[in-house]
Amino acid sequence: MYIKKISLINFRNYGRIELDVGPSVNIIYGNNAQGKTNLIEAVNVCACISSHRTSKDRDLIKFGEKEYITELLLHDDEYDTDTSISASFYTEESEDNPNSTAKRELKHDGIAVDKISEYMGICNTVIFAPEDLNLVKGAPASRRKFLNMLISKVSPTYYDALNRTNRIINQKNASLKSFRGDIKKADDNVLDFWDFSLADLSAEMIMYRYRFTELLSRKASSHHSVISDGKEILRIAYSTIGGAVELLERSFSSEEELHMFIAGTLSEAIYARIKGILSEYILSKLKASRRYDVEKGISMSGIHRDDLDIKLDGLSMKNYSSQGQQRSAALSLKLAELQIIKDFTRSAPILLLDDVFSELDSGRRVSLLSGMKDAQIFITCTDREYIENELAKFLMTDIDPVFFKVTSGSCVREE
Ligand SMILES: Nc1ncnc2c1ncn2[C@@H]1O[C@H](COP(=O)(O)OP(=O)(O)O)[C@@H](O)[C@H]1O
Ligand SMILES: [Mg+2]
Repeated sequence: MYIKKISLINFRNYGRIELDVGPSVNIIYGNNAQGKTNLIEAVNVCACISSHRTSKDRDLIKFGEKEYITELLLHDDEYDTDTSISASFYTEESEDNPNSTAKRELKHDGIAVDKISEYMGICNTVIFAPEDLNLVKGAPASRRKFLNMLISKVSPTYYDALNRTNRIINQKNASLKSFRGDIKKADDNVLDFWDFSLADLSAEMIMYRYRFTELLSRKASSHHSVISDGKEILRIAYSTIGGAVELLERSFSSEEELHMFIAGTLSEAIYARIKGILSEYILSKLKASRRYDVEKGISMSGIHRDDLDIKLDGLSMKNYSSQGQQRSAALSLKLAELQIIKDFTRSAPILLLDDVFSELDSGRRVSLLSGMKDAQIFITCTDREYIENELAKFLMTDIDPVFFKVTSGSCVREE
């Protein structure tokens, strides 16, 4: 799958543009603050409805406008056909009107798609950007978003479960807020109802997240080993409701069963049995936390607080690592993401490299480019000549990059 055309209306500093892009390497160059990242961001937003820079769709609408529209015309190699996807967002929200309603619209071949899970995965992208460092040194929310996005790209049922979980947690929090500080006022029937639904969904989510963290850890670890010349060992562990991971691991009757689970070949009956054990445990944990939750007026325990524990040679990277190690670990995680998407979808995702290429040393560049042989790539940079020379060293093939010059919200293809 590759992009043939990018069309944008009122996205960030772009008014209206239509760009015919090349099937392999596309280089977007120009001075700072002209719109290079905005273009890459637009592609990512259209493909997976998520920006690497903001969680607020409002920020993506051109100042003074009410709606952005992004559209990608795609070519599907497998069936040799074209298909299009489009994501738009409309709101009248402003400083004076903060609670205005908002409307998102997704389309596939011009037809509205109601469920995001049916839209995700039509076109997969993986973005490498300076913000990736947050995976290692940022707040848990960055790592949760990373894991959620990765699993959603390869498994629509996960996305639906995630959505349902978030909705229930919000509803439960609204109840807790109304009972806040007064355990006598707390309605156990209401809270039981939320906890019961949450326990079942959380068990499913924990099994997904555990499995994908294991896959990530293995793949990221082997990338990191190459990047660090075999000197450092990177490991990623899934962290959730206390005791749940240990219980999950204990619930497999053999190592082989655990391996089958991670490989996705476990039988449905065993899966359901283990999910049942986990669900019961989570329910007991949620109930045990009820008094505290009511006191605070918010859910203190649950998978909405999950995290990934990233360790280098056994030490947590957040506290004990250099900038260089953090960069390598972040790159290894992203390369692992790329590989998992490739393995699951059996096709190369589109790669978006925002401002990362010039910052990498040659070892990391080789690692990055070796995973990208048949993919369509978009690279942003400030200096056309520099990137041309550097790429020539790494892309030994006859690939002809296409160049685009960006100047204050206009983007022009150069022949
Ligand atoms: N919602 C928006 N509406 C209009 N302009 C925006 C919006 N968001 C960001 N910008 C402008 O986009 C420019 C930055 O673009 P960006 O793509 O990040 O630059 P770069 O070319 O350095 O990657 C800035 O001038 C900023 O003011
Ligand atoms: Mg930029």
